[in-house]
Amino acid sequence: MFYVFPDEQQLASHVSEKLYQRIASQPDIKLGLATGSTMEPVYRHLADKIRQQPLNVGALTTFNLDEYIGLAASHPQSYNYYMHQQLFDKILLEDRQCFLPSGTCNNIEQECRQYSDKIRQLGGLDLQLLGIGTNGHIGFNEPGTPFDSRTHVVELSANTIADNSRFFTDKSQMPTKAITMGILDIMEAREILLLATGAHKAEVMARLFHSQPDTGMPASVLKQHPRIKIFLDASAAALIPSSQLTRVE
Ligand code: F6R
Repeated sequence: MFYVFPDEQQLASHVSEKLYQRIASQPDIKLGLATGSTMEPVYRHLADKIRQQPLNVGALTTFNLDEYIGLAASHPQSYNYYMHQQLFDKILLEDRQCFLPSGTCNNIEQECRQYSDKIRQLGGLDLQLLGIGTNGHIGFNEPGTPFDSRTHVVELSANTIADNSRFFTDKSQMPTKAITMGILDIMEAREILLLATGAHKAEVMARLFHSQPDTGMPASVLKQHPRIKIFLDASAAALIPSSQLTRVE
């Protein structure tokens, strides 16, 4: 379940190659996507690969995990904006192909319901990419989130606000609420890849390694998934017994 790569670039290149091959073999694949620093090199490698070896992405559908409440799609710190910058505009995906929860809709309860429903209507996610928060969150499912949750509104934890305010020049602009795909929505993906890189993720990865499924550590639910792989770079894997790691060179 735990795979370790020598460094972040090799991990990113492996994951982007896998995504490329999956899109090539199943052009109408439904991909669940994450944002954040961990994904940036993955999307960069994927966009470069598609530029070098063009691939028809016209039938691809993507669903993002989450969005800040209160930030319009045009806000530079919104996840919608991030996805356009990092991937969608580079590989020329059209808006009809890319789903993100809206952080500025009028009826948030309806938005939540419709987001989970849409994923199921389109046949579910074939592959979900996940990052992990230093408190173990996946999407914005903070510690304590029930494992049977669907898309919902979340009050961000003090830990997540502290971690993510690094993206905001004026830290007081960091939203305190978000809309996130639920844990059950994530667990219904047919395959899941969780990525973690950097020494600041070593502690949470050791906690995840030792944890039984427990809502206090949201990512621990993934241990119940039949097709989960956890990809780490050497720094993020530093506190996991090396005998338990599969090395990928
Ligand atoms: C982002 C998301 C979050 C991040 C996590 C790690 O869409 O769902 O769970 O994956 O907070 O963020 P980074 O990669 O910035 O450390």
